[in-house]
Amino acid sequence: MKPLKDGLILLIGAKSYGALRYRGSPTSGRAWGGPMNGQGGRVRLVAELLLKTEPVAIVETGTYRGTTTEWLAAFQLPVYTCEASGLNFGFSRARLGVVPNVHMLHMDSRSALRHLLTGPLSAQLDKPILFYLDAHGSQDLPLAEEIDIIFPTASRAIVLIDDFQVPDDPGYAYDDYGPGKLLTPDYIAEGVARHSLQCFYPRTPAERETGTRRGCIVLAKHADIIATLEGVANLRQLDAPAKG
Ligand SMILES: C[S@@+](CC[C@H](N)C(=O)[O-])C[C@H]1O[C@@H](n2cnc3c(N)ncnc32)[C@H](O)[C@@H]1O
Repeated sequence: MKPLKDGLILLIGAKSYGALRYRGSPTSGRAWGGPMNGQGGRVRLVAELLLKTEPVAIVETGTYRGTTTEWLAAFQLPVYTCEASGLNFGFSRARLGVVPNVHMLHMDSRSALRHLLTGPLSAQLDKPILFYLDAHGSQDLPLAEEIDIIFPTASRAIVLIDDFQVPDDPGYAYDDYGPGKLLTPDYIAEGVARHSLQCFYPRTPAERETGTRRGCIVLAKHADIIATLEGVANLRQLDAPAKG
């Protein structure tokens, strides 16, 4: 860290420093070329998921600078988003604090999910809820725990994991945090088996995707949700070929 930044954070705290950063440079919120990593195919996929599954709420883990949060909020559903870093939380709160349907939590994703499922979302656990899991970026990978928190409780959950391997399309990038922490089907295999999940992948091939071309996976367990996902044109299961 730079000495000036360090000193300011010590003096005013990380959240206030994040808010100052937003006010000084609001456009630095345009991380990765726009919402959903600047990926046009992903934007279409999530928009179609929202239209067809009709969730009552959206939960994002990993707010970062609020770029995807802001886009999700335009669908006029309650959006809950959590962020562990004080700086990123402060930045996003300065950016989105006035948006009435955005609810921001400065929390670890696992604590935030437990809090939401036992609190604000507890009366809607039998309704579809879209979870956008994007709280990765360090050795402490919360993903497997996030799956174990969501599925026993939110029966009609639709879970989209960003930065995930698309096994038959090497053009999609995915995250690697070292041995045993590669965002591949192996990493979530136990959770998929334990909760009897069905897995879907983007139908758009990486060569036709834009932006940073990060892969993703969509998980669901409820038969009604699975039937709906089978009708989502922008999704496919692995035995179905990608097509543009
Ligand atoms: C890839 S960025 C999220 C990008 C954001 N969703 C977007 O589309 O613009 C990951 C964010 O997750 C946060 N993060 C990492 N681990 C976390 C955890 N366990 N709980 C909450 N946030 C976490 C990081 O601080 C970082 O801001």
